[in-house]
Amino acid sequence: MSDGRKTIVVGVTGGIAAYKTCELVRALVRDGYRVKVVMTEAATRFVSPLTFRTLSAEPVTVSMWADEPDAKIHHISLAEEADLMVIAPCTANVIAKIAHGRADDMLTTTALATEAPLVIAPAMNVHMWRKDVTQRNVAVLRSRGAVVIDPTHGELACGDVGEGRLASVESIVEAVAAEAVRVRDLMGKHVLVTAGGTHEPIDPVRYIGNHSSGKTGFAVAEEAARRGARVFLVTGPSHLPDPFGCEVVRVQTALQMRAAVLARADAADVIVMSAAVADFRPATASSDKIKKTDAPAQITLERNPDILSELGARNGGAVLVGFAAETSEVEENAKAKLEAKCCDLIVANDVSDPVLGFGTDENRVLLVTRDAVERLDVLPKAAIAREILDRAVRLLEER
Ligand code: PMT
Repeated sequence: MSDGRKTIVVGVTGGIAAYKTCELVRALVRDGYRVKVVMTEAATRFVSPLTFRTLSAEPVTVSMWADEPDAKIHHISLAEEADLMVIAPCTANVIAKIAHGRADDMLTTTALATEAPLVIAPAMNVHMWRKDVTQRNVAVLRSRGAVVIDPTHGELACGDVGEGRLASVESIVEAVAAEAVRVRDLMGKHVLVTAGGTHEPIDPVRYIGNHSSGKTGFAVAEEAARRGARVFLVTGPSHLPDPFGCEVVRVQTALQMRAAVLARADAADVIVMSAAVADFRPATASSDKIKKTDAPAQITLERNPDILSELGARNGGAVLVGFAAETSEVEENAKAKLEAKCCDLIVANDVSDPVLGFGTDENRVLLVTRDAVERLDVLPKAAIAREILDRAVRLLEER
């Protein structure tokens, strides 16, 4: 049955955040999607199927063994009908099952059978979220192309404080919308992205570094790959797993990052330099660990090359996107960097705010071009990545 609406299959698993999925379903229906809800048995302990049936005006599926005569076909037909499947909240247990290909209920069977894009919004206790095994399972899902919307930090239902809260309904709706109309506007293009901070060694165990996590650059790389680009990601040390569909080079120092970037710059159509490259490095790095008793009174620093300026000066034809991490006069400094480093776009952020910028999940940025300054709201880094690439594609088309 097609009336032009896209079908979103919403999977609900057994966590207290299931009540928030009512709002998600309402929002998706309001945005014009047909919403079909599939629940685990555990989820029905938190919210009644009748609630979702009423909100979605569609039947809700829980059991594989319903009485309808076509029930056996139904679990596949739901998977086939889906233009997108979103699981919110998704427990550690269901993440593990999907990562390992288990299909022992209607929800996991649908997730395994569907060819549609998968968006997963985990919610759980902070310790469960942080466990290596959960993180590995999440990485498996990401490596298969699932969009995982990280849980946010705050007070959890169990009383603990930490990451584990279901991401906001707005950010889940936004991810669904982006996946449902995923544009392939970078098909055939090469995109080069830098991420993370560099580590400049003092000795084998000590370094000069910064708080960049790589989240911003990884989000840009992942988004570019989803839009069809061939993506090279050059990253400083980061705990994040390789983003889906990207060729990743992991480096330590600014000099290594420079070499990796310059080797790929000529082939690039778009270059996004989100890395926090150390401006200085110790003039000499000791090959042995420096003993406490031998600690030098001073460390002499040497300037690192400015990779972005080099790229700007080469004028290789790629759309060049630089970042500016500022603690004051953000707009003025961003405009100055746009000129000085010959960029097409500068993404500027005020890093004096400890809850935005380095290491955080969200950021507030200014997008500065020669003609305009756009001030974006506080957004998840994945959404910022989309905004950046939207501008980059526009600049590419103007070439
Ligand atoms: O990784 P996250 O935790 O998500 O954090 C994201 C971020 C805060 C690191 C990111 O939003 C950001 O601001 N990145 C740029 C940080 C920075 O080094 O800013 P800058 O103003 O010092 O440098 C300006 C530009 O020149 C940047 O594009 C930088 O990559 C580039 N640069 C800087 C120094 C250098 N030696 N070579 C460079 O290419």
